[in-house]
Amino acid sequence: MTAIRPGVPKATGVETLGGHTARQVLRLCEAAGLNGADSAAYARTVLAALGPVAERSLALPPPDRSFLSDDHTPVEFSLAFVPDADPTLRVLLEPGCGADSLEENGRTGLRIVREMARRWGFSTARLDELEDLFFPPDPEGPLALWCALELVPGGVPRVKVYLNPAASGQERSADTVREALRRLGHKQAFEALPEGDRHLFFALDLGDWEEPRVKVYLAHHDLSAAEAAGLSRVGGGTGGPGQPEVKRFFAMAAGHDTDTDADGLEAEDGQDPRLGRRPVQSCHAFTETATGRPSGFTLYIPVRDYAPHDGEALDRAVAVLDRYGVDPAPLLRSLSAVTPRRLQDGVGLIAYLGLAHQQGRPPRVTAYISSEAYEVKPPTALPTLPAVPSQRRAARRVAGSG
Ligand code: TRP
Repeated sequence: MTAIRPGVPKATGVETLGGHTARQVLRLCEAAGLNGADSAAYARTVLAALGPVAERSLALPPPDRSFLSDDHTPVEFSLAFVPDADPTLRVLLEPGCGADSLEENGRTGLRIVREMARRWGFSTARLDELEDLFFPPDPEGPLALWCALELVPGGVPRVKVYLNPAASGQERSADTVREALRRLGHKQAFEALPEGDRHLFFALDLGDWEEPRVKVYLAHHDLSAAEAAGLSRVGGGTGGPGQPEVKRFFAMAAGHDTDTDADGLEAEDGQDPRLGRRPVQSCHAFTETATGRPSGFTLYIPVRDYAPHDGEALDRAVAVLDRYGVDPAPLLRSLSAVTPRRLQDGVGLIAYLGLAHQQGRPPRVTAYISSEAYEVKPPTALPTLPAVPSQRRAARRVAGSG
């Protein structure tokens, strides 16, 4: 492994992709409250999962045009926050990055996930059952397999796998998702999904989870806050997000300078702008097969396309965290753990902000942090929306969460 030199600026002549990301993992682990042994184990795990591209010099272009991040670094970090606890650090990576073909990329991904399963003693049976659906001989993009690791204390991560519903063609993706859900016992789940423009990912929790989820991700072009608030299909009125809550989160993350009423109704002028630059995503999580309904809903706002620079993106993240009663300090520490640059000097370090509701659990706020191994996107001047006057600017917390 490359020697760890905290605070060293990136891209000296000898800097490698693996060295860069491993150092970020170590520093992020510390920022998230993990101990030194766990941090070192997780840095090694990430290097092993990256495989040969870890050795690649950062002076070279990215190994391929990975869809995982904007600058094609095959690694992205995220933090999941709930009140009164350390955040959970996660890392998303593409084990097959740099393979000669997408088919080979997928094969490598499967091999790495199976190696993890042997090492940590979990089953890949549910993934194995889907292999023919998501790994056809001549797959289409934009990905083959991504893997996310939740870096929990103890050195053994929780593992999630992300598959491509369009592997056998975009036009077949709905059928692929329906069949995959059916094989996993979720026979009515497909019918429960809301409308979307595209099926983006099909994801599985593998290993030691209390309630392993099967998740379907949808992309929504030109979505408004009101439409976003109508996307959850979580059943029974117990733990599903309230529509006002989702609307409020959407507006805060998107930076729409409207203030909603305490009950979340639209501001007086009824302004409800749509997000047209990059689609919003929704995720629908299934944990039981009895009701046919999802038990979890997450909304992801690609804040980087709707903020001029990361300083602004951070302000929005902090406002959302405050609303949910979460200390923003670990997020601030994490951003400095990943990059020495000033937040105003680029945009995209914070890629997405998410709000997750899982039945029976407190809402979680998630922030996705780019590695920026290859590129920092310069700040942009966004056309600003007309300001809406408001007398109710004071920060408010969601009932029961603060
Ligand atoms: N880079 C892709 C995108 O922006 C995929 C992706 C990476 C993503 N991290 C994500 C999508 C977090 C949603 C949430 O869409």
